[in-house]
Amino acid sequence: MRAARCETHGDPDRIVIREIPDPVAGPAEVLVAIEAASVNYPDVLIAADKYQVTVPTPYTTGSEFAGRIVGVGAEVTDWAPGDAVMGTAFGGAFAEKIAVPQTALSPSPAGLDMVHAAAFNVTYRTAYHSLVTFGAVQPGDWVVVLGAAGGVGTACIDVATRLGAKVIAAVSTPERAEACRALGAVATIAYDDENLKVRIKEITGRGADVIIDPVGGTYSELAIRAIAWGGRYVCVGFAQGEIPKIPMNLVLLKGAILRGFEIRTLANHLPAAVEDGRREIERLVGEGMKPFVSETYTLDEVPLALTRMAERRTTGKIVIDMTRG
Ligand SMILES: NC(=O)c1ccc[n+]([C@@H]2O[C@H](COP(=O)([O-])OP(=O)(O)OC[C@H]3O[C@@H](n4cnc5c(N)ncnc54)[C@H](OP(=O)(O)O)[C@@H]3O)[C@@H](O)[C@H]2O)c1
Repeated sequence: MRAARCETHGDPDRIVIREIPDPVAGPAEVLVAIEAASVNYPDVLIAADKYQVTVPTPYTTGSEFAGRIVGVGAEVTDWAPGDAVMGTAFGGAFAEKIAVPQTALSPSPAGLDMVHAAAFNVTYRTAYHSLVTFGAVQPGDWVVVLGAAGGVGTACIDVATRLGAKVIAAVSTPERAEACRALGAVATIAYDDENLKVRIKEITGRGADVIIDPVGGTYSELAIRAIAWGGRYVCVGFAQGEIPKIPMNLVLLKGAILRGFEIRTLANHLPAAVEDGRREIERLVGEGMKPFVSETYTLDEVPLALTRMAERRTTGKIVIDMTRG
């Protein structure tokens, strides 16, 4: 089969498309023919060996996919060939087939085609738990989303708006601001040109009730300086590359709650919240919620797709459509 391989860590343009043997499903594993796979920022970080966990080279890139089951191991009881599924893996998704533990899969949500199903799982679950489980968002709350035009950011706008919150989208360009408004943001801030703290206070009056931060760097402290008393700041990631150091006097003065989490390990710590989230997300999908996919690429274009994400040039989700080219 064909696969996008990272043979040496570094910039994503080093990734090459190779012919490699098909994976074989173990006894508790399922073999999936991938129809679409979405790009997540960690794919860039893992290729550069800048992620929390090192993946040794060579490996097949890609961590989120949707497709149909084409084989099951002898111990698999929950899945059968032909089932439409979506799933996550630490690598292996930018390829024609993947073998994964049966627990790594969920049914592809009714109403989502393969491209949208591939783009759904990581960002929407991250958005939901950021806002609800950790951000304790309430209808009418002011929610500030940093990096709001990205994959996690656009999902946050969508979920928060559906839950009755008012979203302020912080982004780098007017085009991104426009995309966020189209998704439901009631206000936008150009955080590279405007003072984030001043603008949040101007827009909200009282400050932000919830801040969702997948960006980090210098933006985090500025946003926290504009948090409302008792507000919740949720650390989701560091797309900007720098891990911020927050002066603790801000937390004291604001009565603020600072939390963070990793979707990959959340079920180990909060299984009940994950199950509640699954049901609520399913309900919202039933109401028409679906990811904003701005571009699709072929498997040959994986290096280009990852490079565009690394260079901060993508909006919403970008997807490798395996049925193209
Ligand atoms: N905690 C979790 O479980 C979890 C789950 C999924 C993702 N994440 C993390 O969340 C972050 C966002 O992931 P994503 O898939 O949404 O990525 P994405 O689609 O690339 O979005 C990231 C956004 O960050 C902004 N940004 C600001 N400075 C940047 C820089 N120097 N380089 C790149 N982007 C920059 C960009 O928007 P502007 O240009 O408008 O600023 C971009 O839209 C990543 O750090 C990822 O590791 C965490």
